[in-house]
Amino acid sequence: MDTETKLYPVSTNPLFFKPTRPVPEEIAVIGAGTIGPDIGYYLKSALPGIKLYLVDVVEEPLKNAEKRITGYVQKATEKGKMKAEQAQAVLENIMYTVDYDHIKNCDLVIEAATESIPLKQKIFDTVEKMVGEDTIITSNTSSIPADRIFSDMNKPERTTITHFFAPAWRSLPVEVIRWEGASQEAVDYLFWFFAHTGKAPIITDNAICFMLDRIFDNWCNEAAHLLDHASAGQIDSVVEEFVFAGPFYVLNMANGNPIIIETNTLQMEEGPHYRPAPILGSVDTWHTVRPGSTVEVPEELRQTVRDRMLGILFSQSFDIVDRDIGTKADCNFGCQVAFGFRKGPFDIMRDLGEAEVTRIMAKFQEERPGFPQARKPLSDYQDFKRFLLVDEIGGVKIITIRRPQAMNAISDEINNEILSVLKENIDNPAVKGFVITGYGNGAFSAGADIGKFPQTLGNWDAAVKYAKDCAQVQLFMDQMDKPMVAAINGMALGGGLEIAIRCHSMVATKNAIFQFPEVTLGILPGIGGCIVPYRKWPQGADLFHEMICLARRITANEAADIGMVAKIADDYSDTIKEAVKEVENMQGKIQRVPEGKVDIPEFHVPDQPMSGKLALSREAISIIAKTIKNGAAADTFADALEIGYQGSAEIACTDAAGEGISAFLEKRKPAFTT
Ligand code: COA
Repeated sequence: MDTETKLYPVSTNPLFFKPTRPVPEEIAVIGAGTIGPDIGYYLKSALPGIKLYLVDVVEEPLKNAEKRITGYVQKATEKGKMKAEQAQAVLENIMYTVDYDHIKNCDLVIEAATESIPLKQKIFDTVEKMVGEDTIITSNTSSIPADRIFSDMNKPERTTITHFFAPAWRSLPVEVIRWEGASQEAVDYLFWFFAHTGKAPIITDNAICFMLDRIFDNWCNEAAHLLDHASAGQIDSVVEEFVFAGPFYVLNMANGNPIIIETNTLQMEEGPHYRPAPILGSVDTWHTVRPGSTVEVPEELRQTVRDRMLGILFSQSFDIVDRDIGTKADCNFGCQVAFGFRKGPFDIMRDLGEAEVTRIMAKFQEERPGFPQARKPLSDYQDFKRFLLVDEIGGVKIITIRRPQAMNAISDEINNEILSVLKENIDNPAVKGFVITGYGNGAFSAGADIGKFPQTLGNWDAAVKYAKDCAQVQLFMDQMDKPMVAAINGMALGGGLEIAIRCHSMVATKNAIFQFPEVTLGILPGIGGCIVPYRKWPQGADLFHEMICLARRITANEAADIGMVAKIADDYSDTIKEAVKEVENMQGKIQRVPEGKVDIPEFHVPDQPMSGKLALSREAISIIAKTIKNGAAADTFADALEIGYQGSAEIACTDAAGEGISAFLEKRKPAFTT
């Protein structure tokens, strides 16, 4: 059995589950230190209607917790991220208490106290006596295996570890630990619950430090061991090639030295090489620099630090995979979203190449004997999808775009991965077809990756090439004999919508939103967006004009009214079920995008075109309207697509495109002048 099947016996997408119990109405967080209040704030902002009990043994941390949560709400309101009404609901119904009596009606209890087994056992003993039979009980320990905490409880089947990352209210991942005492139902429920409330849960095995802290703790510990050779500032600066902030900077922010001593001491059960660096016990604050500062590091020293830090990173990543602690995809993804690695460890290995990884690991073996090395050929560690989860339901492959940190925006690599899943399965007679969806409740996809657009600005040929490269997925779908259905689980924008409309059918959750926001960036949807809707649903032409030329958003109902959406479902898991049914219904009945001209009404560019409060560029809209008109008049679908690619290049050469894209990347409102 492979790691993925062991850890995810049912599905890798958490929202495919239909929960067997409702969303909790009352939740307790035990421990009002650093992370407890942050977990509480996440829960209250995701579910403002719940009652939250923040419990501690003394009043002082509870007072600080209240101040902290109030501060978070204030900041979110000032930044416009939270409306006044929601802010009030978040602050209401939080009880800061030293009395365990209050938690008796809680459906979920999360412990976030100090890392001590006797203390945790004492807390859980009290909790278990207090709460109902079905209450789920978890610990936020970052290192202690579940059996050491929960084995002696009366009902260990409803317990496990749910490990958050700082800051817990914002950081996406939560490790949910699969251990032999926990029921499948409890683990599945938590896996679903965290995704439902906006997190990106990952299931890991019950090893010491689970998956991601094996990376982080050893990364920091190795940096501390390296202080014999280089200063903290030099080490932080060298590894900034791979992370947004170096280990010493992060340790200062998190007061992390005692934690590394504790967790690495625990890992010494696996061998003395995990020994914590003694210096961690004698320093409070490291003398380091802010990320991005220039630090003098002689070349030879840079190489020493870089090799050692990569050595520990790769060693831990190999070990995680070889011991089935976590999947390659989760390790790669988790390092980026939990710790700010610019790329995942397996991506770094791929960039360096096998010869360089082999050199680094041989040197690491010499300098740090005992640490795990790769047990398989290096190419085995590259064999996975970085951005897609691929599940199967009844012979239908379900592709989930997992990039929640960018609202599932579609990069070149995501495009390539989608294409490769289609190609790998198209000739397999056991596969009936495909469903594509986005990770989480918020977005199917927020469009093509805008970070890539500056490369095409002002460069006609590069813009055409970019559009044609992206279009490979859609062109492959056009000729497939197996149906592909888009399951729209939230926002489907721009380049994401261009994939969805090219599927052979679409189903959507009732909260789905469809939009082509390109004009607000001064560009147009160039991968069929100006072409396909008019050919597939000509009855919606007026609405499409407003969508493409003025960025109008439409709802699932509006999309269903013009025939774009075949079915609307209540929630995520029902949407997937409907999509699977749609694949079955469409066997042998795929409709191709119509060839030939299509008659559509003309779009007249308004004198002062607006999208909400944003004044749009008339120049951009004129190019879009022309592209739509010429595309509809083209004799063949292929000619029409070509007109779309050329239109995207023409618009990429305007000032409007330069302004719109720069504004998005600079997080400001664009000011179009033409
Ligand atoms: N490409 C790249 N990154 C994107 C993206 C895209 N199409 N859409 C969203 N993101 C990223 C944001 O940059 C942000 O990253 P950060 O946290 O590193 O800053 C993250 O996703 C969350 O987005 P944010 O804008 O902070 O969320 P929001 O809830 O305030 O707004 C949207 C959501 C969808 C309205 C907004 O992100 C947006 O307008 N995105 C662009 C949509 C678009 O024009 N798509 C067409 C491109 S073809």
